[in-house]
Amino acid sequence: MTANQPPAGPPLATRNSPFLQACRRQPVPHTPVWFMRQAGRSLPEYRKAREGTGMLEACTRPDLVTEITLQPVRRHGVDAAIYFSDIVVPLKAIGVELDIKPGVGPVVERPFRSRADLERLRPLEPDDVAYVTEAVGALTEELGGTPLIGFAGAPFTLASYLVEGGPSRNHEHTKALMYGDPQLWADLLDRLADITAAFLRVQAEAGASAVQLFDSWAGALRPYDYRHSVLPASTKVFEAVAEYGIPRIHFGVGTGELLGLMGQVGADVVGADWRVSLDEAARRVGPGKAVQGNLDPAVLFAPPEAVEEQAESVLRAADGLPGHIFNLGHGVLPDTDPDSLTRLTAYVHERTAR
Ligand code: CP3
Repeated sequence: MTANQPPAGPPLATRNSPFLQACRRQPVPHTPVWFMRQAGRSLPEYRKAREGTGMLEACTRPDLVTEITLQPVRRHGVDAAIYFSDIVVPLKAIGVELDIKPGVGPVVERPFRSRADLERLRPLEPDDVAYVTEAVGALTEELGGTPLIGFAGAPFTLASYLVEGGPSRNHEHTKALMYGDPQLWADLLDRLADITAAFLRVQAEAGASAVQLFDSWAGALRPYDYRHSVLPASTKVFEAVAEYGIPRIHFGVGTGELLGLMGQVGADVVGADWRVSLDEAARRVGPGKAVQGNLDPAVLFAPPEAVEEQAESVLRAADGLPGHIFNLGHGVLPDTDPDSLTRLTAYVHERTAR
């Protein structure tokens, strides 16, 4: 592999893994399982590893990133690892002043509201995130046949944090900018698309077997606005990673009405939350794409038999679909009992063994 010749397809060792087979809608020995936010606060070993280290600092330390990414794979026996980082890491890497506040989320010191703010968004160079290259390299080595999923935040979701200055229920400043100054909005999303694409390319170059684009808050938009004000930027991101030949996953919360469009941007796999059943999600996504999801993460607080019953209902809805990756409908909640995730992984594996 040379610098200007991207690798064709995922690392060899992972190519016949159930996760990649399901992404390609090929027959699988069992339905593959992984969980969004599987690495994190639900695990005591995570809390221990993170002691005394801020979230954003931890994301720049290859030793910590590697250890934390591997923790849920060791503990639960999931079929894929997700690179430990956060969606705001590339923004921090280009010098945007922000922090991740415990229990709150990303907080941006000076929110983005005017054209002059665009100057604070310079392009991301691979050298800005050399620690990512190093950690992904170490991880692909350690993981062997288990695929590593790289990820990034989608332009809309990143824009929401930048414009609101932090987490938002209504995204009112974001929408005010989108409707009030469509040209500035388009320019902002286009810059974010380039940053996101560069960040995903770093992970793909270093050996990630798949990438997921998190447009967590896109469900706040009606389809018309998604199509006209968001889809072009997200399409640019997916196109920028197409040449690696690795599966591209697209996910957002509350996106039942957007699933068709979210497939159209160039995803191979579309994730759905629990508000839409997987058979219906697959119908909306359309042919030629796999689906991922979609157990309500709150279900994990119920007794084991109830968790199995709900997991069974997800599997039944996915029955007969050519590509299904079992996941939650959103991230693992911090107070989740990790044993419940281990049991769920084993249950899905046993129940779907063929
Ligand atoms: O295991 C994994 O999935 C990989 C790790 C991961 C994190 N953030 C670690 C994290 C991933 C994939 C993300 C993505 C992310 N970050 C998203 C998209 C996924 C989603 O949940 O919709 C979003 C919207 C963010 C922004 C963000 N960062 C939020 C909302 C929070 C939670 C705030 C809180 O403390 O409740 C964070 C912080 C964060 N990201 C933590 C972790 C482990 C907690 C920080 C800590 O441990 O102190």
